[in-house]
Amino acid sequence: MIRSLFELLTFLIFLSTISRVTGLGSVLLIDFEQVTSGSTWENAQRYCKEHFNDLATIYDHAQAKTLYLKKYMAWIGLHRETSTNVWVWTDGKNHGIEWGWRESKDNQSCGAIGYHYYNYRKIYINNCEENLFFACQRNTTGYPFIKEMMTWSQAEEYCNNGNNGLASFATWDMTFFSEQNFPIWIGLHRNGGSWRWSLGLEEDKHWNLNNPSNDATCVTISSVTKELATKNCKTQLPFLCTKDNMVLVKENKSWEEVFEHCRGLRSSSNSNLQFNLLSVKPGDEHTYVMNKVMEADTEEVWVGLRFLGDEWLWVNGADMLYTDMLQCPVSNKHCGALSKNDAGTVEARDCSERKNFLCYSYNP
Ligand SMILES: *[C@@H]1O[C@H](CO)[C@@H](O)[C@H](O)[C@H]1NC(C)=O
Ligand SMILES: *[C@@H]1O[C@H](CO)[C@@H](O)[C@H](O)[C@H]1NC(C)=O
Ligand SMILES: *[C@@H]1O[C@H](CO)[C@@H](O)[C@H](O)[C@H]1NC(C)=O
Repeated sequence: MIRSLFELLTFLIFLSTISRVTGLGSVLLIDFEQVTSGSTWENAQRYCKEHFNDLATIYDHAQAKTLYLKKYMAWIGLHRETSTNVWVWTDGKNHGIEWGWRESKDNQSCGAIGYHYYNYRKIYINNCEENLFFACQRNTTGYPFIKEMMTWSQAEEYCNNGNNGLASFATWDMTFFSEQNFPIWIGLHRNGGSWRWSLGLEEDKHWNLNNPSNDATCVTISSVTKELATKNCKTQLPFLCTKDNMVLVKENKSWEEVFEHCRGLRSSSNSNLQFNLLSVKPGDEHTYVMNKVMEADTEEVWVGLRFLGDEWLWVNGADMLYTDMLQCPVSNKHCGALSKNDAGTVEARDCSERKNFLCYSYNP
């Protein structure tokens, strides 16, 4: 209960602090996308760059804990005989179970089980050339679940070496396919003597990586415990991509032009989305944004910082948290840019210089 005016005022000040931090401090939204079909580290990186943003950068243990990473797909011993077009289990029987998977595409002839949110399990028919985890047929200790990814026929061959082949099910006994703690590629790898994130930034403070063997130079996060571990980069594993709401526009424009350009952007998939010049926070967020800056054609990129009246302001109204900007910038140097030659701050530049620029999208 709030008992006095003093307490009420303290409470209101507390509330406004929260909304300043969460509302105006940061406009950057970072999200993750787990790809359940596996790849080597290098191919995973290529895939993430093409479809999302990059392999994931995980800044600290707190962020790691918030990740939901348990979904996976595993091959089972179900496939379509190409000669007869009949669905069979690898033990040669059709166990008489109606799975509801028959309407698959021509090139999708192999069965996998999917473990998803809330323990939801389902049989899927996939392209046999995809790399998935797999389960071998039950022996006395259960269905061995293999935490490496292979194509369906490679998996079948692997399981046949232990004699029983891929797992076949006579009943809807899916309880075996439970939560698994498996490794997932993230963007950290060893480059020379140091550990670096996918786009080149050095990892120096958050993770304590030891590297017992020389061929284990790429890093995974485990799906349940969220621990980081090194592995041979050629191993096929699922991977985690990052996506965010930044847009780097590789056109050379003056600051006034880029201000208009960002606000004029529209999304083809979401007509509600609006755009503005990016504001940035010092620290980890600055470091994250620098990844994007390094992709630019120009040495520097414009962001939404402007010297107006007698102070530096973000044009979207975000709080100005950089403390080392000159309070009286040289005439003309009234616009803010991030430089590839980064000193951890925003540089004051002549607004008429032509540079690439960073916009961001938001739901108004
Ligand atoms: C499956 O085949 C169709 C055409 O038959 C093709 O368009 C598609 O890309 C193929 N998919 C894969 C994953 O190979
Ligand atoms: C059953 O499979 C597990 C995992 O592959 C293996 O360690 C174990 O030796 C197998 N047991 C028998 C009796 O074959
Ligand atoms: C922008 O400027 C950079 C550096 O001067 C140049 O390399 C690049 O080709 C220019 N881009 C365009 C689209 O003109």
